[in-house]
Amino acid sequence: MTEARITVNGEETPLSPATPHTTALDFLRERGLTGTKEGCAEGECGACSVMVARPGVNKPTDWVAVNACLVPAAALDGQEIITSEGLATAGEPGTMPSLHPVQEEMAVRGGSQCGYCTPGFVCSMAAEYYRPGRCEHSTESTDSTDPEHGPNGFDLHALSGNLCRCTGYRPIRDAAFAVGAPTEDDPLAQRREQAPPVPVATEYTQGGSTFLRKHTLNETLQLLRERPDAVVVAGSTDWGVEVNIRSRRADCVVAIDRLPELRELRVESGHIEIGAALTLTEIERSLGTGNVPDVPLLADLFPQFASRLIRNGATLGGNLGTGSPIGDSPPVLLALDASLVLADADGERVVPLADYFTGYRQSVRRPDELIRAVRIPLPLSPVTAFHKIAKRRFDDISSVAVAFALDIEDGTVRKARIGLGGVAATPVRSLATEAALEGEPWSAETVEAAARVLRGEGTPMSDHRASALYRSAMLGQSLLKLHAQTTEAVSS
Ligand code: FES
Ligand code: FES
Repeated sequence: MTEARITVNGEETPLSPATPHTTALDFLRERGLTGTKEGCAEGECGACSVMVARPGVNKPTDWVAVNACLVPAAALDGQEIITSEGLATAGEPGTMPSLHPVQEEMAVRGGSQCGYCTPGFVCSMAAEYYRPGRCEHSTESTDSTDPEHGPNGFDLHALSGNLCRCTGYRPIRDAAFAVGAPTEDDPLAQRREQAPPVPVATEYTQGGSTFLRKHTLNETLQLLRERPDAVVVAGSTDWGVEVNIRSRRADCVVAIDRLPELRELRVESGHIEIGAALTLTEIERSLGTGNVPDVPLLADLFPQFASRLIRNGATLGGNLGTGSPIGDSPPVLLALDASLVLADADGERVVPLADYFTGYRQSVRRPDELIRAVRIPLPLSPVTAFHKIAKRRFDDISSVAVAFALDIEDGTVRKARIGLGGVAATPVRSLATEAALEGEPWSAETVEAAARVLRGEGTPMSDHRASALYRSAMLGQSLLKLHAQTTEAVSS
């Protein structure tokens, strides 16, 4: 095993003396790269954004922005990252470096005042600048009334994880919408033509803790059998918060995010199988391409799931593995009738998601098992919706989340699947409401009666996000809203 090292702005940098719990943010700052800032240390402000080189969509490599405050530096062993300092291009000796186009636009359009958020903004902006397909959606192909996309194809959601407290967002948006296409001599565009860094096996011990990454699923499952106490991480968007905010430490951390067996997305007999370690961004950009059908309910979910920075690291396996009752994906996957493929060193078993959760942050998954994949049965129900009720439209935790998937034929509900989050100790299926709908006409009367049933589902609590009464009310409203939307669609 070679010494753990990370290529930072083109320079190989040893990981030591970082510990397995040192974040990429602290690793960078301790080496003088203080452009990368700490704001919240929990993935909500984007001040720590950096770009990592990942396998690409239409080129060998893509630049992907992530929150350096959440990713353990050890998880980047063998990988390449670019910080705000690495965006500018070095000039002749004795001259100033040339600003990167996104830095230039931020400067000339007044996109920075105190500057604290700016390095994070420029890294997120640069990742969108290089995003495959961005320029194909520019100019005439862009709807000029779409406030979330620029005439240059820039998707403003790329900045949804970056907060600025003093400049105001209009000049930042102006800068984002002004950047052009990367030039042929742009070194970071040229880097996209080369193969991405390969995942390396890592065994890194420091300060009494060990960070481990194996090459294959089998090796990883053997390891988990020997170390059932290990903390398993993929994008580390949950573990990073535990480390930073709750000061949690583990003797052994096992990374699974680069395991090829967990990174496949394919259509098999009767279902779509989504690898548990694909990031949400990767899934979002793969559905509806090639022979993989679009999944409208997942397409509804993704923009409402945290920020682009988080979705660039977060995985379905992680969102299900933590067992949170307010995770955004379980209600959707319950409505889709999904099953999980759980793997251990002896083989696999398939568990319906409806049978997976057993209590608050508890599930049937044993410590020596991994979620290998999520299976979504085909055909998909045609009437679907995901309603996330939260205090902010984007990048927030839900108070209540409701996902619907209905088969309605000749005006009658043939099949109903409803997944709920935020109303019980676990995500739950809304069985009584499903029964109240199935076999009934999709009419105002049926829906009003079923909405009364839905208001009584789960055991909602009152907390700082919402009262139990409000949560119940929102459940019922959600079904009424779906009915109104479907009947509007039919009558329009
Ligand atoms: Fe706020 Fe990382 S420091 S997202
Ligand atoms: Fe001050 Fe954004 S420029 S926080």
